[in-house]
Amino acid sequence: MSTENKKQGTMVIDYERVNQVLKYVYANAIEGDAESVLKTIDTFCYEHQWCMNVGDVKGPIVRDVIAEHKPKVIVELGGYYGYSAIMFANFLKNDPDTIYYTIEINPILACVIEKTTRFAGLGDKVRVLTGNLSQNLEVLKNKYGISQVDMLFLDHIKDAYLSDFLLAEERCLFHKNTVIVADNVITPGAPDYLAHLMDHPRFSSKLIKTELEYSFGMEEDGILVSVPVQKPIAV
Ligand SMILES: C[S@@+](CC[C@H](N)C(=O)[O-])C[C@H]1O[C@@H](n2cnc3c(N)ncnc32)[C@H](O)[C@@H]1O
Repeated sequence: MSTENKKQGTMVIDYERVNQVLKYVYANAIEGDAESVLKTIDTFCYEHQWCMNVGDVKGPIVRDVIAEHKPKVIVELGGYYGYSAIMFANFLKNDPDTIYYTIEINPILACVIEKTTRFAGLGDKVRVLTGNLSQNLEVLKNKYGISQVDMLFLDHIKDAYLSDFLLAEERCLFHKNTVIVADNVITPGAPDYLAHLMDHPRFSSKLIKTELEYSFGMEEDGILVSVPVQKPIAV
């Protein structure tokens, strides 16, 4: 397993790997064709170097959650070089009311996401915000008029899943139908988040066991899907 994967806990970015994958994309993918961009990245990750994208096994699981819940406002924490933004924004592209917001702490990667999503033909569907959640709550509200989200996708530093969930809860970012999807809850793992959500009185959570991206089924991983518990109607 690669150094980048082992260090996902501390998020050390291997820029040479990002450079290599992007060179491969610009050489082999069709501009404006998001599916071709995703397939080209998958090929690179299976045949050349592993990358920490949601990938072609877990990505479709998250896409199914989107299909079921039909969110209009999706906020992602952790964009890397744009794979998940491309996959999920492309899935929403025929719905003019939906926008995919990705919050990426690394300013270099935030610029990369701008470029890759434009290359994939999704520049209009994706908004890239630089920084962490706390730094962007006001940006979401003042610049984009968003005070609540329909879906929150946690895919950033695993140690921050719980604190960012608690921040979002405290700042009323969730409404009664918000769905919260967390990647990598088994590998590298977010044990405090998993324990908190599995035992939360106001959220019902389902752990979907699957495999780590690009691991050929050799490593286990899981996606946690959480929704607020609906209060029974008083009669
Ligand atoms: C696992 S990668 C994201 C993969 C991406 N969602 C995909 O599937 O293509 C994690 C990313 O989170 C970013 N990150 C780390 N801590 C963050 C934070 N507190 N807020 C936002 N982004 C963060 C890292 O810079 C890295 O790009």
